[in-house]
Amino acid sequence: MEFSVKSGSPEKQRSACIVVGVFEPRRLSGTAEQLDEISEGYISNLLRKGDLEGKSGQMLLLHHVPNILSERVLLVGCGKERELDERQYRQIITKTINNLNETGSMEAVCFLSELHVKGRDIYWKIRQAVEAAQDGLYSFDSLKTRKAEPRRPLRKITFNVPTRRELPIGERAVAHALAIAEGITTCKNVANMPPNICNPAYLAEQAKILASDYENISTTIVGEAEMEELGMGSYLAVGRGSVNESLMSIIKYDGAGDDSKPLVLVGKGLTFDSGGISLKPGAGMDEMKYDMGGAAGVLGAMHALAELQLPLNVIGVLAGCENMPSSNAYRPGDILTTMSGQTVEVLNTDAEGRLVLCDALTYVERFEPEAVIDVATLTGACVVALGAHATGLLSSHNPLAHELLNASDQSGDRAWRLPLWDDYNAQLESPFADMANIGGKEAGTITAACFLSRFTKKYHWAHLDIAGTAWRGGKDKGSTGRPVSMLTQFLLNRSGQEQGE
Ligand code: BES
Ligand code: MN
Ligand code: ZN
Repeated sequence: MEFSVKSGSPEKQRSACIVVGVFEPRRLSGTAEQLDEISEGYISNLLRKGDLEGKSGQMLLLHHVPNILSERVLLVGCGKERELDERQYRQIITKTINNLNETGSMEAVCFLSELHVKGRDIYWKIRQAVEAAQDGLYSFDSLKTRKAEPRRPLRKITFNVPTRRELPIGERAVAHALAIAEGITTCKNVANMPPNICNPAYLAEQAKILASDYENISTTIVGEAEMEELGMGSYLAVGRGSVNESLMSIIKYDGAGDDSKPLVLVGKGLTFDSGGISLKPGAGMDEMKYDMGGAAGVLGAMHALAELQLPLNVIGVLAGCENMPSSNAYRPGDILTTMSGQTVEVLNTDAEGRLVLCDALTYVERFEPEAVIDVATLTGACVVALGAHATGLLSSHNPLAHELLNASDQSGDRAWRLPLWDDYNAQLESPFADMANIGGKEAGTITAACFLSRFTKKYHWAHLDIAGTAWRGGKDKGSTGRPVSMLTQFLLNRSGQEQGE
């Protein structure tokens, strides 16, 4: 779909559809008011008759409104004007796009970007609108032999800005949003792919495709033989029960030359997590194909970054692996030697993510990172704590934590910090090794992060637990594309290009 911005009055638009807001109870927004005047009260008349109350998400499509050049006018309920918040704004945009897509307008001019959303500027409103639109239009149908196509899909949408002065900022918002949306689509496509297709080799293939698409990206793959040489005993143990080789992809984006230290993103890439010998229960096990959501998020953020061509050095690591039971699988009771030299007693083979990540986190020391952020569908406990709304954030470095929280607030891709106090470390004690791989029933998200923190002492580090946010279950099952938006926002902020000129 094509997006653009312009500045003009609604009555002068010659469009297939023009979109304006109506507040509850039956109150016209500024632009709806303008249309009402030109059409000699046509719209206010309809509202008086009770055709539209203005409740959030209500829609009324009008044809041939008198004296209006556009073919259609879509009135969109925006709820109570003073209650319009960020979430509602996004929902209104999503519903509007779906409606336009179904009602046959191939092109539209949208004035909803004029709505007042508390504390948010035109850059934010247009960026969110474009991201919401792209999110709503996504479908994963590459494996369906018969695809449902809308009759006349929406092709182009133009967002209005109040004056010509805001055009550059609006255009910038569109450009940023499109880059992020592209990253999100990449994330969703690879995450939704079934585990018989999306195995560690497939993940590595996607990392290589990125390198062939962008000149300043190069990808290398670390296979099991090299892991063996490096002493990555923990990562290797997890993949041992699978016939699919463990493969770690290193995606290097060079945007700032040799002198600038890289930011490193590490994604958990379990292309399927059966639990291994500590086998998971059957119900819903298919959803463990999403256990590579961290790697998908990192891949998506690298894609967005490459589209934006930010002046940074960033390294994305996809820790690809499959956790399966077999006679060759690792077992409860095994003691593993990690790349760091620390030993781990396995008490549950289903706590595999941390075993893969700890070696990947040691591996990235060689890059002398500016900071490392790992992204992982790590714990069911995080879903219990925060549900599907917020990503869990844990960090040993306050400034980095605040930067990420800030990025999550700006992007609307929410995160919430949990503590990483030393007190929790006691839960990881093992009688036979340096630590156990599980920390008991209590505070599972925190003890998992504590485990990782033992491997991240050499750099600034933050951990994102996306177990609740990476995908939706139920009838709308599918990848959400999170946390691509937050990560890309973090990178935008780091590059000093958050929005301005
Ligand atoms: N990939 C899972 C975590 C998970 C579970 C994410 C459900 C999303 C939904 C992880 O590998 C796992 O199995 N974790 C265990 C850890 C436990 C054995 C300490 C868990 O959360 O149950
Ligand atoms: Mn597991
Ligand atoms: Zn897992």
